[in-house]
Amino acid sequence: MSDAPRKVFPQRIFSGIQPSGGLTLGNYLGALKRFVAAQEDGIETVYCIVDLHAITVWQEPQKLRHATRELAAGFIAAGIDPARSILFNQSQVPAHAELAWIFNCVARMGWLRRMTQFKDKAGKHAEEASVGLFAYPNLMAADILAYHATHVPVGEDQKQHLELTRDIAIKFNHDYGVEFFPVVEPVIEGAATRVMSLRDGTKKMSKSDPSDQSRINLTDDADAIAQKIRKARTDPEPLPESLEGLEGRAEARNLVNIYASLADILPEAVIGEFGGQGFGAFKPALAELAVEKLAPINAEMRRLMEDQAEIDRLLGQGAERAQAIAEPILAQTREIVGLIRSRTG
Ligand code: AMP
Ligand code: TRP
Repeated sequence: MSDAPRKVFPQRIFSGIQPSGGLTLGNYLGALKRFVAAQEDGIETVYCIVDLHAITVWQEPQKLRHATRELAAGFIAAGIDPARSILFNQSQVPAHAELAWIFNCVARMGWLRRMTQFKDKAGKHAEEASVGLFAYPNLMAADILAYHATHVPVGEDQKQHLELTRDIAIKFNHDYGVEFFPVVEPVIEGAATRVMSLRDGTKKMSKSDPSDQSRINLTDDADAIAQKIRKARTDPEPLPESLEGLEGRAEARNLVNIYASLADILPEAVIGEFGGQGFGAFKPALAELAVEKLAPINAEMRRLMEDQAEIDRLLGQGAERAQAIAEPILAQTREIVGLIRSRTG
């Protein structure tokens, strides 16, 4: 690479969530809540419900439709304004799939073989996994780069995929001798970049965990939320007087981080307030805070889900705005690659 300064791209934020199963507190704190904050910062924000990613593992068509609409309702209920942010489902904008194919031809087998998410998801059955599951990170790179997005807010688990996105942009630019795709910045910030399971502080909270007790779903009612927090696994010690005291106490640390993130304060401040107290005092306070923050989102999601035609209409409008950005970028990509486009219709 030359030492010439990199071209500066105007800031644009892009992120995506899969419509596979419901939203968890991990998605909310690690992703959605921060998407809303980015929208408030006045930078252009593009948010995508990545249905093409979801079908890399089997999805019942009826359930996929439902999960897509429910996720759209979740975005809006959490504070994404479809008039200010662009909110749409991926499959309505063909540029994603087309650019992903080009990136299939840029990314190397060895790069994808290193992806830990594929190894985790495919497990011992890699031979039976779909080709789509293996190529998934190339589609993710296409999602981002079809918009020339510069900043991508995600949870910690997506860091490796964003590094691959950077590698794809750099290799494409280098191979074709252009400065066309931006090298994106991962935005992995806050106290809740990795919300852990309520049953096991070493595992990520995930919608695919077989135990429903391990997670808080955005569709859980107040009783369920309170009950899950009460039963969350902890150790017998009271909360420490300083943050360092959480060392080696994964479950306690997780609950402190969740509290901090829900309350928009630093973990130090949580320790300042609750240090020295036992979980008998801390858990009810956390449950109350979680219910206070999540119940209105839950209620709004239910209300929005009563008018599915309206959700579809909003997604369609978002897709048209998304297409208007992505299509010219794809047209230039075809030109750079040498793909002739001479049809008139
Ligand atoms: P997914 O549900 O896998 O499509 O993830 C959507 C977004 O939520 C991504 O930005 C993830 O990094 C984020 N996310 C998922 N689970 C967690 C978690 N347990 N803690 C923090 N962020 C998460
Ligand atoms: N792979 C992400 C996840 O599983 C979802 C995703 C797809 C995404 N495309 C994206 C996130 C583009 C950020 C940007 O969580």
